[in-house]
Amino acid sequence: MKVSSPVRELILARQPGYNLPAPFYTAAEIYDLDMDVIFGRHWIYVGVEPDIPEPGDYFTVKLGRASIVVVRDDDMNVRAFHNVCRHRGAQLCNEHKGSVGNIVCPYHQWTYDLSGKLIHNEHMGQDFDFSRHSLKSVHVGNLAGLIFVCLAEQPPADFEEMRAAMEPYIAPHGIADCKVVMQDDFVEAGNWKLTLENNRECYHCVSNHPELTSSIYEYGFGYQPSPANAEAVQGFQELIEREHARWEAAGLKSAEIEMLDGRVTGFRTQRLPLDKAGESQTMDARVACEKLLANFTDRKLGGLSFWTQPNSWHHFMSDHIVTFSVLPIDAENTLVRTKWLVHKDAVEGRDYDLARLTEVWKATNRQDGALVEMSQRGAASPAYEPGPYSPYTEALVEKFCNWYVERLRAALD
Ligand code: FES
Ligand SMILES: [Fe+2]
Repeated sequence: MKVSSPVRELILARQPGYNLPAPFYTAAEIYDLDMDVIFGRHWIYVGVEPDIPEPGDYFTVKLGRASIVVVRDDDMNVRAFHNVCRHRGAQLCNEHKGSVGNIVCPYHQWTYDLSGKLIHNEHMGQDFDFSRHSLKSVHVGNLAGLIFVCLAEQPPADFEEMRAAMEPYIAPHGIADCKVVMQDDFVEAGNWKLTLENNRECYHCVSNHPELTSSIYEYGFGYQPSPANAEAVQGFQELIEREHARWEAAGLKSAEIEMLDGRVTGFRTQRLPLDKAGESQTMDARVACEKLLANFTDRKLGGLSFWTQPNSWHHFMSDHIVTFSVLPIDAENTLVRTKWLVHKDAVEGRDYDLARLTEVWKATNRQDGALVEMSQRGAASPAYEPGPYSPYTEALVEKFCNWYVERLRAALD
């Protein structure tokens, strides 16, 4: 990978324990590098199986300059293709979501089946070789209904380890039997790494997220005991132990797995107790949907959280799922795509109220967006210099940045 010498120097000289230098948040060259090395060669979370429940259902997603179409084929497999016609290259699917029998290019009607095979065109002559003009496929990783894509020719093989570790945690929540009842696309005016860094700590939660902290304990999000809060953290640990024993006895895996750095496909999970009624991430911590997921009868399953490098986090509760993907737009703007899922048989107005279901994370996303924007403005100032991480609350931010810098270093010539 070719990079300029100042950027190479920045990548090699990164100081552990400190925020990244400003160009990582502002420079066009580093944004291009991120789109090539990070978003072009890793497993990127893009959506859920219920986005495309029927054959022919599709959604599109932009990864840098690439547009990808993710489609359900006739055999119910999830496939992904570059959204580019093999004739003169027009973009094929121009809506975010839709449903088709075949994929027909709007320009000259070249027609592809749902396996990407070119099956029809006109005026190309008798000897035209259809077999050489299939859509270019993109790798799909399906983790219990969470859909990841990878643009690399050889995708990172350790996705399989993540799948093996995570399926027992996620599968009981039955994603395939859910429906997406809300998607919120929200643009944060900041570099995508600021979005991720902000997600990887809850140092900011108590003072910025009144709605979210109605139900969550910030200690579950990377806190280490400090002299100031050793007792509270200890109390939370004891609560975790009690609840984990109860959940594990019911067949729900709950223990923390922390594999965020030192590997290509980094991830972390833990099932975390919730405050108050302990049922769901809502204002009163009670379920937002009366029809529970899967075959659950216990409302009090806390929140199973799952974080992946480089672009996602997810919360699975007894009654609903909230899932987030981070999609860079340019060096200073990032799309955060949030989806809320409930059981497919749940009825709006009877089992759930959409405003109540979505209010906590809609508010939290807006608050996080404001924090990211402030961070971006600070990083753009000539006075910015990387500051130190809190050893008690920001270890997971550091792991994200360590993972990121490791991945760039591994790609240097
Ligand atoms: S560009 Fe697609 S059919 Fe011509
Ligand atoms: Fe936040």
